Amino acid sequence: MTNTLSAANSGAQTPEGLVATEQPGGLHHVAYVTHDCAATVDFYTRIMGLKLVSVVLDDTVPSTGEPYPYVHLFFELADQSTVAFFESVNLPPAPPPSHPAYDVFNHLALKLSSVEEVDKWAKRLRDFGVDVTGPTEHGIIYSIYFYDPNGIRLELTTDVVPTWREHHAKAASDMDAWLSFKGADGHRTEELVEWIRSRRRQHREVEG
Ligand SMILES: [Fe+2]
Repeated sequence: MTNTLSAANSGAQTPEGLVATEQPGGLHHVAYVTHDCAATVDFYTRIMGLKLVSVVLDDTVPSTGEPYPYVHLFFELADQSTVAFFESVNLPPAPPPSHPAYDVFNHLALKLSSVEEVDKWAKRLRDFGVDVTGPTEHGIIYSIYFYDPNGIRLELTTDVVPTWREHHAKAASDMDAWLSFKGADGHRTEELVEWIRSRRRQHREVEG
């Protein structure tokens, strides 16, 4: 079997002597494009309760020199990480995704402190007229989902199992198994789905 995680992580792609010994300390910002700054500011300040802490203006993109005049907004979360947006001028709408799954899977999850907080936010958002999906109990986390005015899917979530980040061995073996179903032409879907279902049955039995 050549397409396993261990093979994918083999030394073939890592220059000798180079081993990652440190990791970045946390999320500084995540950035998206908006076509409606006013609606974005309203949503993230009035409804989400974030502070608009910085605005950057430029007529070119500093990293590349591209001539795209823009405003760059930063909204601050409680841990000082930020959610950022760019609005440029004369930018056509982004093309629609090739499959609706992209709108479900791509999302930004923000942390709350308890299940009660998630429930409180679900009510708060609905009172503001936001269409909220959930709460959903995922086993390890508890979440609600909704969309911002830009069509970005947001999640508010809290840990239910505080040790969920400690499943290192299971994560690696599950990843190897997932990759083993992947052939040159894509996943062997029927076998993959059967494996996922048996995997989830095992998980429920272990959890009782
Ligand atoms: Fe999520």
